[in-house]
Amino acid sequence: MKLLVTGAAGMLGTDLCDELTRRGHIVIPAGRETRPGFVTLDISDTAATLAAVREIAPDAIAHCAAWTDVDGAERDPESAYRVNALGSWNLAHAAHDTGAWLLGVSTDFVFDGTKQTPYHEFDPVHPLGAYGASKQAGERLIRETLPARSMIVRTSWLFGKHGKSFPQTIARLAAKLPEVPVVSDQIGTPTHTLDLAHVIADLLESPLPGTYHASGAGQCSWHEFAQAIVEAHGLSTPVVPITAREYADRFGSPTVRPAYSVLDNLALRLRGMDTLPHWRDALKAFLAR
Ligand SMILES: NC(=O)c1ccc[n+]([C@@H]2O[C@H](COP(=O)([O-])OP(=O)(O)OC[C@H]3O[C@@H](n4cnc5c(N)ncnc54)[C@H](OP(=O)(O)O)[C@@H]3O)[C@@H](O)[C@H]2O)c1
Repeated sequence: MKLLVTGAAGMLGTDLCDELTRRGHIVIPAGRETRPGFVTLDISDTAATLAAVREIAPDAIAHCAAWTDVDGAERDPESAYRVNALGSWNLAHAAHDTGAWLLGVSTDFVFDGTKQTPYHEFDPVHPLGAYGASKQAGERLIRETLPARSMIVRTSWLFGKHGKSFPQTIARLAAKLPEVPVVSDQIGTPTHTLDLAHVIADLLESPLPGTYHASGAGQCSWHEFAQAIVEAHGLSTPVVPITAREYADRFGSPTVRPAYSVLDNLALRLRGMDTLPHWRDALKAFLAR
């Protein structure tokens, strides 16, 4: 297949391009900045997006580009909507125009975190902040513009080699600080980008329109995740539990995040597809990488 990947220089996009190439697909990476081997594309530019997709004529678009600065979205919601809503809409329109499939990546932040059990694909969404709302808008625009050829893949707490992710940050802080304060009252599931890339590639090879949750198995707080990272590095730095409220006050975060956002990967199971490994195994694989 010929596959256009947006956000190809990002944390997920880089691993996804590698996985799709490894499987023998023709991969066209796209990014906002000009890079060798990349198509330069700002997805918030409607005419440029339509022209690029027409010229490339991909069989499918794997849409990983996003405004991912959660606090930044709260301060400047319109910019977040420009990328996450308009950008997704432009790609859906271009896919409709050219006959391509579109797979858009979304987030656990579309949920409000009031549920006590894992969220599945048929639960109602209710984002708490601008980032989640802009991603939800992107989901809707994709589904409404391209109902028969679109898939939404929601994931959570991504970590990977090609980005500034939580394991690197915690390892760095634990090596230099006497103690590391980490939020203990938000529960979710860490997801390794390599595992997610595997599932996205499976879906692109065996598409069925709809919404899919794809996150690591198990659940933990940020505090438990940090503790596992510190232990895996053989460090004895104490990881000090703090509340989300304390974190927001101490670090000036304007965002209210869902207190519970574990995703149940129900649709993948219903389809008999591979699900992702437990986050502890994924962390081991990541650190071994
Ligand atoms: N990270 C997480 O914990 C997490 C959790 C749940 C869901 N997700 C979703 O997973 C997907 C991948 O996330 P990620 O962490 O891999 O993101 P990332 O590393 O921040 O990469 C996003 C990419 O999108 C590009 N981009 C931003 N605005 C663009 C525009 N207007 N036109 C074209 N490209 C643009 C960025 O390019 P520049 O570098 O040039 O800005 C960047 O390469 C996103 O949809 C995100 O919402 C992420």
